[in-house]
Amino acid sequence: MIKYIPHLLVVLLAGCSDSTGIPDYKRADLSVEKRVSDLLARMTIEEKAGQLNQLAGDLNTGPASGNADWQHKLQSIKNGEVGSMLNVVGAGKTKQVQQAALDSRLGIPLLFGYDVMHGYKTIFPIPLAEACSWDLVQIEKNATVAANETSAAGVHWTFGPMCDIGNDPRWGRVMEGAGEDPWLGAQIAASRVKGLQGNLDSNHILACVKHYAGYGAVEGGKEYAYTDMSRTELWNKYLPPYKAAVEAGAATVMNGFNTFEGTPVTGNKYLLDEVLKNKWNFKGFVVSDWNSIGEMVNWGYATDNKDAALKALTAGSMMDMETKALVAHIPELVKEGKVSMQLIDDAVGRILYYKFKLGLFDHPFAYSDEQREAATLLNEKHRKEALEAAKRSIILLQNENNALPLNNNTKKIALVGLFAQDKKHLFDFWVAQGDFNEAVSLQEGLQSVFANTAISYSQGYEADRAISNQTLIADAVNKARAADVVIVNIGLSGEIAGEARSLSDVSIPQNQIALLKELKKTGKKIIAVVSSGRPMILSEITGLCDAIVYTWILGTESGNAIAQVLSGKYNPSAKTVMSFPLAAGQIPVYYNHFRTGRPATANSNEVWVSRYRDISNEPLYPFGFGLSYTTFSYSNLELSDSALQRENTLRVKVTVTNTGSFDGEEVVQLYINDVTSSILRPVKELKGFKKVFLEKGESKVMEFILTNEELSFYDGAGNKVLEEGWFEVFAGGNSRDVLTTRFRLK
Ligand code: GLC
Repeated sequence: MIKYIPHLLVVLLAGCSDSTGIPDYKRADLSVEKRVSDLLARMTIEEKAGQLNQLAGDLNTGPASGNADWQHKLQSIKNGEVGSMLNVVGAGKTKQVQQAALDSRLGIPLLFGYDVMHGYKTIFPIPLAEACSWDLVQIEKNATVAANETSAAGVHWTFGPMCDIGNDPRWGRVMEGAGEDPWLGAQIAASRVKGLQGNLDSNHILACVKHYAGYGAVEGGKEYAYTDMSRTELWNKYLPPYKAAVEAGAATVMNGFNTFEGTPVTGNKYLLDEVLKNKWNFKGFVVSDWNSIGEMVNWGYATDNKDAALKALTAGSMMDMETKALVAHIPELVKEGKVSMQLIDDAVGRILYYKFKLGLFDHPFAYSDEQREAATLLNEKHRKEALEAAKRSIILLQNENNALPLNNNTKKIALVGLFAQDKKHLFDFWVAQGDFNEAVSLQEGLQSVFANTAISYSQGYEADRAISNQTLIADAVNKARAADVVIVNIGLSGEIAGEARSLSDVSIPQNQIALLKELKKTGKKIIAVVSSGRPMILSEITGLCDAIVYTWILGTESGNAIAQVLSGKYNPSAKTVMSFPLAAGQIPVYYNHFRTGRPATANSNEVWVSRYRDISNEPLYPFGFGLSYTTFSYSNLELSDSALQRENTLRVKVTVTNTGSFDGEEVVQLYINDVTSSILRPVKELKGFKKVFLEKGESKVMEFILTNEELSFYDGAGNKVLEEGWFEVFAGGNSRDVLTTRFRLK
């Protein structure tokens, strides 16, 4: 009997061999599909279960699971009980561990996975910062460098890109994604997958679309919390980045710690089977997040690990990270008839497919070459790429009194701030093998660019935001008085950015505010450089400084990048991809919100309208906002049609002019609003952008195309819907300050 399994044709024979007795699965001249089906036919159910088991190596990136020591792990690998290891890195180490797999009965090699979120050894800006560059070419390059270094270190697979929509800065993991917009998030997710995977040669690695799906909607911004949304919200707001990453060819998907429609997503059949496997025709494999199978017991969705294994498998999860539930219970679940061998073969076959695809059966040590590793990691070319990326991620939020750029005859700079000197605050949780000692601090970056300027340093504040240190403040004030300009590096340490780092308070720490107030009294020009893995509430500092430069967490070349911006060697061009709240009470605040039945106007005395009585509805800085050292103006927004036939496309033109005194880059943004629709649509939706360089005084006409794809939305069944009626079109340098026009779709 022959069963057709997507990807594989499983022939229920005991496997085939050629005339020399070499089994088909070991023959490189045969197709991957043939080799997989031959190998499946040879495997016991225990060996198949082993392929679905992933263990951690030298590092726990989750609650310690009582990991056995290496002797036990290696024995399990030799027994064929492990299909993949995570957190095992290095050409030497991976070669040693891989050998244990080759010593197993069938010699099936391991897949090595690792979190390379923004660089392996050369650390790039955090993904959220990188997204603010709106530079898809640079973003793809960054991913390619990460893949080159990772693959040189024996690792085949990264658990990224993270595709979760993030609009709540209380959630520490917003740093991993691409912000609040689905359309931009989708473009960036696809670029990251292409950069990581390339053509899956040995300089590239498997990507992993995570955390599928909707993890960024955690209630209260609290880590590992409950999430839920309507299916229309799921399809229109949360799924687009995952979908784009899958369509870009991502080999794997990781489910999240969250929930959907009352079940943990690890056991959610709608997401994993109906949408991912069937609707999106996903051919790769799904890995659980760290122990997310076992944690279905904590959620109250499974009675024990065997029940969790059954629910995860039947929903569509495949590889089990660190619960060890599948390897323990699949044989009995199959024997009891609760899980079909077809389902197991499909899951195992998808994993084997990529092991063959990467050439691991024929060249199991291809990624574990110490010489290549030494030549690749943190080389000058990669550092240069990291500097380019970091410069493009820095947002100029405020620049008054011509504070910036600093002119090069600045004689004395007072540099203030713990983060400007202590490098351990430069890196976040997800820095793979990056070493902050190899990074460039702001102090070092400034010393390099302002070689003839006296640069004093004072710490200014304690790392602990609860401690206000008057001695540190006094020292900073004294040094400020002796300087021409004060640069004060404040914000949050990179150590509080990432997983398990939710914060209820994302305002600038009071000990830093106290410092700024004293510095302000000196009358010196004050430039605030804000480091953080998330947008913070900056309302209290806008009046205490002349300029605000938001640098996020920039990685290895941090100090050099910031110094290039402050000196004007690079004119900042980044635009925020997450709104900056005016106050904590607004959170979450985001640009693509819905209307209301009682819209508020600028008249703050209105009563019966949707607004806060104590503050504005608007964020301090809106999505898409970022300044330049020059200025840009927009004019002549024109449409090719005012009455568009639905099968046609709409051409949109807008003129942008550099009206300032510096050459610079502008991110021209195009938004739409479907004025009346059967399912509510946001007041604005980003549907196009172009980053353009303009010399001072130069104008360019930017052209965009809007098609049915951009004008339609999803219904709750995930089908695209295009409805006639009025559409508004907006163009500008951010989501707030725009030109507007409209057309009617027939
Ligand atoms: C963590 C994270 C996930 C990561 C995995 C492996 O818990 O949620 O993003 O890829 O475990 O480290």
